[in-house]
Amino acid sequence: MCRSALSFFALIDYYQYYFLFESITLDTISLIQPDDWHAHLRDGLALQRTVPDLAKQFARAICMPNLVPPVKTVEEALAYRQRILAHVPEGLDFDPRMVLYFTDQTSPQEISKIKDSEFVDAIKLYPAGATTNSANGVSDIRKVYAVIEQLEKHQVPLLLHGEVTHQHVDIFDREKRFLDEVLAPLLKQFPQLRLVLEHITTSEAAHFVLEHDRHVAATITPQHLLFNRNDLLVGGVKPHFYCLPILKRLNHQQTLLEVATSGNPKFFLGTDSAPHAQNAKENACGCAGCYSAPNAIELYAQAFDQVGKIDRLEGFASHFGADFYGLPRNTKQITLVKQPQTIVESLDYLEDQKIIPLHAGQTLSWRKV
Ligand code: DOR
Ligand code: ZN
Repeated sequence: MCRSALSFFALIDYYQYYFLFESITLDTISLIQPDDWHAHLRDGLALQRTVPDLAKQFARAICMPNLVPPVKTVEEALAYRQRILAHVPEGLDFDPRMVLYFTDQTSPQEISKIKDSEFVDAIKLYPAGATTNSANGVSDIRKVYAVIEQLEKHQVPLLLHGEVTHQHVDIFDREKRFLDEVLAPLLKQFPQLRLVLEHITTSEAAHFVLEHDRHVAATITPQHLLFNRNDLLVGGVKPHFYCLPILKRLNHQQTLLEVATSGNPKFFLGTDSAPHAQNAKENACGCAGCYSAPNAIELYAQAFDQVGKIDRLEGFASHFGADFYGLPRNTKQITLVKQPQTIVESLDYLEDQKIIPLHAGQTLSWRKV
């Protein structure tokens, strides 16, 4: 090979090395303040913990309605929103976005009230018995098709906990079965329905979303990007990794990482952060839910950085959810620096209880400043 050809290739090598090196050494990033499109804040004293934890990072959060009793009407949602706002720390702007809880009794008229509401954005469907506080959920989706028709007509998003609940269906197959048996027929009947498949956990769900048009989106939690079922089960049962839908195999985790970091606007941030007291998790019948709120954006940064895609975090965390909901993007910025920080072992909760946060005691490589 002649000398000039050799130096040409050396130059290419240099640039490849330079760009690789650049992407590896990115150690400060600024992004538009993120939003959490799926969070559980609960009510009463729990709000003292959950609202400040979320509001320190996020500008807005969808506040899930699975209270006891659930938030079933626009009026109840607005009252709940006021209780949340009362706990926002001084100096922070936080805009709680509200969602109704779909029951067998939800009236079609409630949907036009959502449409007209400034603060209520969607309705959440839990198949009855699927997860925490879902006993009042929908018993059979075909029974509520009249309400879904209104959702499609008014373009109000339907948020789905996508798992079937039949006793005989294996817990690891419940999401896939939901896609085949509930969601595919639903979209055939209502092709213009806007929907968010919440906290997806399988490559089948990711592909389902990819294969449908822009009306179909999904949220992804930090635990499903960072962990898989080995983290939950190998070497002893780790109840703080137990959430629903349950963590799946490594190959599913990898697909979720691929789609979350792909820049595809159908996938956006939704932590599913849910506060459960330590004694309710470390229990012979432990509750489902991971509490990620205090470090959520840093957990996502860790996941994106691990696959060399930290530059894709802003779209996922700060743009795509707002775009899907037709809300303006935030304008403030936050900064993350690549500096180790250790997640606290426990947090105070209610009067004398503790919460063990997701990944407690472990070191993250990113920190919000
Ligand atoms: O793990 C979960 N916890 N999944 C859910 O769907 C609900 C949540 C909760 O409310 O605790
Ligand atoms: Zn949830």
